[in-house]
Amino acid sequence: MTDPSILLIIGGGVAAYKSLELIRELKRRGVAARGILTKAGAEFVTPLSVASLSGEKCYTDLFDLTDEAEMGHIELSRSADLLVVAPATADLMAKAANGLANDLASTTLLATDKPVLYAPAMNVRMWAHPATQRNLKTLKSDGALLVGPNEGDMACGEFGPGRMAEPMEIADAVEAYFASAAGGPLNGKRILITAGPTHEALDPVRYIANRSTGKQGYAIAAALRNLGADVVLVSGPTTIPDPKGVEFIRVETARQMMDACEKALPADCAVCCAAVADYRPAIETEHKIKKERGGLTNIPVTENPDILKTISQLKDGRPKLVVGFAAETDDVLCHAEVKRKRKGCDWIVANDVSPGAHCAMGGGKNSIILITDKGDEAWPEMPKEEVARRLADRIARALSGPTLVKAAE
Ligand code: CTP
Repeated sequence: MTDPSILLIIGGGVAAYKSLELIRELKRRGVAARGILTKAGAEFVTPLSVASLSGEKCYTDLFDLTDEAEMGHIELSRSADLLVVAPATADLMAKAANGLANDLASTTLLATDKPVLYAPAMNVRMWAHPATQRNLKTLKSDGALLVGPNEGDMACGEFGPGRMAEPMEIADAVEAYFASAAGGPLNGKRILITAGPTHEALDPVRYIANRSTGKQGYAIAAALRNLGADVVLVSGPTTIPDPKGVEFIRVETARQMMDACEKALPADCAVCCAAVADYRPAIETEHKIKKERGGLTNIPVTENPDILKTISQLKDGRPKLVVGFAAETDDVLCHAEVKRKRKGCDWIVANDVSPGAHCAMGGGKNSIILITDKGDEAWPEMPKEEVARRLADRIARALSGPTLVKAAE
């Protein structure tokens, strides 16, 4: 099978520079990209940078005789498996929605018989304008796919929705499209993931929590979704955006997380990444505990349910593969192996979270040891998204293979 390929139309917006990063990211994921640069797009990035990064000619002009002799615009519009418009400016979206064809990009969009993924990027007021929203509705009803826009600070100094999705998100959307088009390896598989910390209330203003950000769990949810899985993500409080295309359940406490997981089962696989608080205050008071009454010097606690252990030891409806995490500060391998046996999960992903460790909680990178019944594998340090992708591949392979030997046996 040949590698999937996209035709990337780069419109005229400040976000055009991110499209260069997108080409690199897609290449890294085995997706070839060929570029079309609009006249306005060429004000922000050059055809040479698009061509150098993609390793392909960058097309700019509808009436270029050399280009038309090499590959006509009709042929170009069908030369890839998917068209991606990033940045999709208000102008490009308006042209595509109304079937205008007065330059190479708009002609290609009108001539193509392939699906089109738009990554809109524009000023917040332009995005909110009824004309843009009308065009968006038309494009969607014509079958267009959409990634973003995100909310945030804009180059023009305003704040709101209109920022182009990040290259990673666009690449995820492309990968997810190809996985579902090809019947991804996890198509039809349901996977439950827990992520983030839990907050255990002490009184109406205070709670017990930990340093987990949820980043690794969210990345795993996105990577599994990209392989075609139906993902249910049960998350404690975090500040990162919910991954698109997954069923998202927000909880606060360990008991709520346990409840949500029980409701989400049965599943083919469970991945417990959450840093669940082991204990909660035995009594949650209705009123703020006052310092002068000494109420905070001794906090009685009670144990929380162990979600990973409960799922691993289910008699009925146990997922075929249960993956736990072990955040350790010392003797990582030994503690994690003991944990795998004690909880009864199939695999443990162990990591060193000691303050001196390179990849402590909250960072963008991780260095893990994957412990299975076949032994342990230390992975080199890599971005959390890459850990997620590799783990998702391993999960896909395990779920398509014979039944696993249970660690608890
Ligand atoms: N876990 C869970 N429910 C809990 C505690 C932990 O599901 N109440 C899961 C975590 O999601 C993780 C694994 O168990 O997958 C290990 O969590 P960790 O905090 O490292 O282990 P603990 O069981 O809390 O043991 P300890 O704190 O003694 O290291």
